[in-house]
Amino acid sequence: MNRDDFNILTKNIIYLDNGATSLKPRCIADSISNYYNNYSANAHRGDYDLSLEVDNKYEGTRTLVKEFINAKKNKEIIFTSGATDSLNKIIFGYFRNYLKENDEVLITKSEHASNVLPWFELKDEINIKINYIPLTNLEVTLDNVKNSITDKTKVISIAHITNVVGDIRPIKEIIKYAHSKNILVIIDGAQSVAHTKIDVQDLDIDFLAFSAHKMLGPTGVGVLYGKEELLNNIKPIIFGGGMNASFQFDGTRVYNEIPSLLEAGTPNIAGVIGLGEAIKYLNSIGMDNISKYEKDLKKYAVKKLKEVKDIIIYNENSESGIITFNIKDIFAQDLAIYLNKYNICVRAGNHCAKILKDDLGIKNTCRISLYFYNTKEEIDYLVKVLNNKNIKDEII
Ligand code: ALA
Repeated sequence: MNRDDFNILTKNIIYLDNGATSLKPRCIADSISNYYNNYSANAHRGDYDLSLEVDNKYEGTRTLVKEFINAKKNKEIIFTSGATDSLNKIIFGYFRNYLKENDEVLITKSEHASNVLPWFELKDEINIKINYIPLTNLEVTLDNVKNSITDKTKVISIAHITNVVGDIRPIKEIIKYAHSKNILVIIDGAQSVAHTKIDVQDLDIDFLAFSAHKMLGPTGVGVLYGKEELLNNIKPIIFGGGMNASFQFDGTRVYNEIPSLLEAGTPNIAGVIGLGEAIKYLNSIGMDNISKYEKDLKKYAVKKLKEVKDIIIYNENSESGIITFNIKDIFAQDLAIYLNKYNICVRAGNHCAKILKDDLGIKNTCRISLYFYNTKEEIDYLVKVLNNKNIKDEII
């Protein structure tokens, strides 16, 4: 990995907001501009060479994603516009028909909006119940999951890694237990797929949602993974070109099978091609190397941050690269604005996890979210800035 691959990192910026979106290596933009400049035909619709090239690249990315998460078949990979879109398609395309009145869904209060609001909407539509798995020290334990399950529980929908606390949930154990009770499990991989190796077969995940833009790829692209047998029972929630085989004036129609069934309209072809490049880049570093590096950097960062006067760290023991903190008596957003003066990018606020505040004991926090291109030197500089040391002329 070469930090110079990332144009933004050559500009003296310390980017610590990877939970919101990652930076992109140059090869991503290059692959996208190559598509627009050299072969920008539609996908799955043409009988000429340019169009064939597009199909090969588009479907080639499907294979790359399949291999990246170790799905069984290409048709289990659906391209969406992002994790939010994937979750909506899973919840309204599958669970709207699967769940009955009074069935129970288990989520947690640390889920971000996209894994909460679609459930609220579905609850209003079909009168299901939403229950929250209690958190112990802000984390989900298998025992808490077990104690939350009733004979009405039909689905557990949780993040693998949460975006504020950064806890890595024991999803393998949770899924195993859930399946022993005939409960399906949706994993929101928005904060995990970019940071750790995910093997959907080994973990036995039923549905997985994630976004390209948090894993070096472009915005506006995501993935919905589902086991084939489940996707065979999903209903499209968007209808149009590309997802139908035929239709008649009287309304009779035949829809395609997955994956096209769920990819109506001209897809984000350039974005999907960019996602393919992102996966190649991540593979060239190795997901195990990425998670190990981040873990070590997180430990280093926590140790150094603890030297900062009046700092409150809310999740020092969680294992991902997310660190959430405040400085006593300073409003989180003011702190982020202060850091911005030194070209340090962090996120402040409630981070879209708007019902976590009761467990966390505070509404607004500052969040550092690390990635493999961050360095100890950047952490040292951040700590100096937080300590308000004289850093005026220091070049990072
Ligand atoms: N959910 C994203 C974040 O945590 C946007 O910043």
